[in-house]
Amino acid sequence: MLEVNGIDTFRGEAQILWNLTMKVERGEVVTVLGANGAGKTTLMESILGVHHPKKGSIHFLGEEIAFQPSFHIIKKGVSCVPEGRRIFKDMTVYENLEMGAYPQKARSFLRETVEWVYSLFPILETRKEQIAGTLSGGEQQMLSIGRALMSKPMLLLIDELSLGLSPKITKEIYATVRKLHKEGVTILLIEQNATLALRHSHRGYILETGRITLQGTSQEIMGNEHIRKAYLGM
Ligand SMILES: Nc1ncnc2c1ncn2[C@@H]1O[C@H](COP(=O)(O)OP(=O)(O)O)[C@@H](O)[C@H]1O
Ligand SMILES: [Mg+2]
Repeated sequence: MLEVNGIDTFRGEAQILWNLTMKVERGEVVTVLGANGAGKTTLMESILGVHHPKKGSIHFLGEEIAFQPSFHIIKKGVSCVPEGRRIFKDMTVYENLEMGAYPQKARSFLRETVEWVYSLFPILETRKEQIAGTLSGGEQQMLSIGRALMSKPMLLLIDELSLGLSPKITKEIYATVRKLHKEGVTILLIEQNATLALRHSHRGYILETGRITLQGTSQEIMGNEHIRKAYLGM
């Protein structure tokens, strides 16, 4: 579904990603793990057309997207939950969801999609008239995921799903990731929280200073001694 092939991505003068190759197949949940500053967000933003790689290619559903504008990539079926959630804090929960339905096709399914999001996150329906900035951290993350789903994506990119959330809330949110996957959404997770992410994924990649240094099934990665020490605290 998504094929990233040998990309070099720069931010200003600095090269952040080096000959990076990875893929996500339809129906998979894939994790990219990496420490702070490894280039995880830059990878996600390369897929989303925020940064255009200097070298290499990115294909989504067989089409080259590396040099396309973000709105086109979103229209094609990619959506994202950005790092730090970035909800519209002064707007209501419902208005936030509405903002996520901006491709024209998504607007025509607005009511149906809102119902789908409410079925995944019942708390959002309870709080639909509430100002988003007054939600708890976990609820804001649910809203950010809900908003990303409003464009009915085939591929959902999630940057730092669990950052700043308690273990209990993180578990709850991972349960909805599982539900989403069952409903046919393909998911690319970008995480520092290795254990939970790998437990919910089929495959994973380790990103270190802009390079993929290890890839494999989640089992293989969890079994790797270096990974156990560096990322799993074992
Ligand atoms: N706006 C920017 N301009 C230049 N370099 C940046 C910018 N933002 C981040 N970087 C650098 O890019 C590298 C990767 O950042 P990022 O993709 O945010 O990593 P991660 O998401 O894994 O923490 C870091 O070394 C960071 O300092
Ligand atoms: Mg990041």
